Amino acid sequence: MPRKTTISLIKCDVGSLAGHHVVPEPLFRIAEKNMKKAKEEGLINSYHVFNVGDDLQLLMVHERGESNAEIHKLAWNTFQEAAEKALNLKLYGAGQDLLKTAFSGNVRGMGPGVAEMEIEERDADPIVVFAADKTSAGAFNLPLFRIFADPMNTAGLVIDPNMAGGFKFEVLDTVENKCVDLKCPEEMYELIGLIGTVGRYVVSRVWRARDNLLCAVGSVTKLSLIAGRYVGKDDPVLIVRAQHGLPAVGEILVPFMHSYLVAGWMRGSHWGPLMPVGVKDAKCTVFDGPPRIVALGFQVSNGKISSNDEGKPMIADLFDDPAFDMARREAVEYASMLRRMGEFEPARLSVKEMEYTTLSKILEKLKDRFKFL
Ligand code: F6R
Ligand code: MG
Ligand code: MG
Repeated sequence: MPRKTTISLIKCDVGSLAGHHVVPEPLFRIAEKNMKKAKEEGLINSYHVFNVGDDLQLLMVHERGESNAEIHKLAWNTFQEAAEKALNLKLYGAGQDLLKTAFSGNVRGMGPGVAEMEIEERDADPIVVFAADKTSAGAFNLPLFRIFADPMNTAGLVIDPNMAGGFKFEVLDTVENKCVDLKCPEEMYELIGLIGTVGRYVVSRVWRARDNLLCAVGSVTKLSLIAGRYVGKDDPVLIVRAQHGLPAVGEILVPFMHSYLVAGWMRGSHWGPLMPVGVKDAKCTVFDGPPRIVALGFQVSNGKISSNDEGKPMIADLFDDPAFDMARREAVEYASMLRRMGEFEPARLSVKEMEYTTLSKILEKLKDRFKFL
């Protein structure tokens, strides 16, 4: 049996500094301690702890497969411990995304966001992970379409014979909790027809069509649908495999040369421009945003993240680059345009999509004052 490697990216907002701004150092320390111990005990082979805004991100590489109870327990316990610390420090929103109290074998449906991919390592396997704050899973629909289906984005779709057969998308209907596979280029229009509705249809997986090679996995959590009310945040994560018959790292990054609008931002209730940033700038400010996204690149090798001579995983901070200055500038310009519109649609999300709303209270208060014409 060829050896299989699993990449797990599990995130949670366990509390943050100065409102929903950034994960502070004491919480990182807890995550680092637990990850280090799990590595020493042989549960995981490599890890990298980082943050995007108020979301603590645990990137773990191991050989235990997807949805492994021990890996999920490690993440759950780490988030619990960090949330306790956040509570003691009176940080903001301590334990925000921990919706349940008792762990039941898998963090899915319990609040944290999860993307996991089990792969058979190729000779060299470049991986890009994305993590975004102040938005939701539908934010990845547009770039995933462009990366794996748009020949104007990905030159390989046209000129690399290994990609000529196209890619297959798994699309999740988050309202009816069902999914459908659509193959591009043949079903491109149907695909866009669905995933253009970013609040409902979410791309959860992508495979290379000719051999079903798994090449992208996104988190698809809708906490409001889990809890039946608006709680926690769905800030999404995504794992993409690159090169050698798959989109190149450069093709994976092209969709982020321009900013585009995503749902989330202030109180999860506004359209906001997505801003690609290096990890040092992954902290939300203006109107709790603009929504930020980071991209980290690495190689997997023998069940681990390729490391330097000191055993430190080598991680590339891909948006920490002047090539994305234009997108950042656009994001600021779009943000200023949208905020001039205040609470008027389309700057504000439609009533159905808003995370916070007082509309039902307003209608209740005014119900006897409406007159029929
Ligand atoms: C959005 C987000 C923030 C908060 C906002 C109000 O995902 O986390 O924009 O919604 O700061 O937060 P509360 O209600 O905690 O005062
Ligand atoms: Mg928060
Ligand atoms: Mg967040």
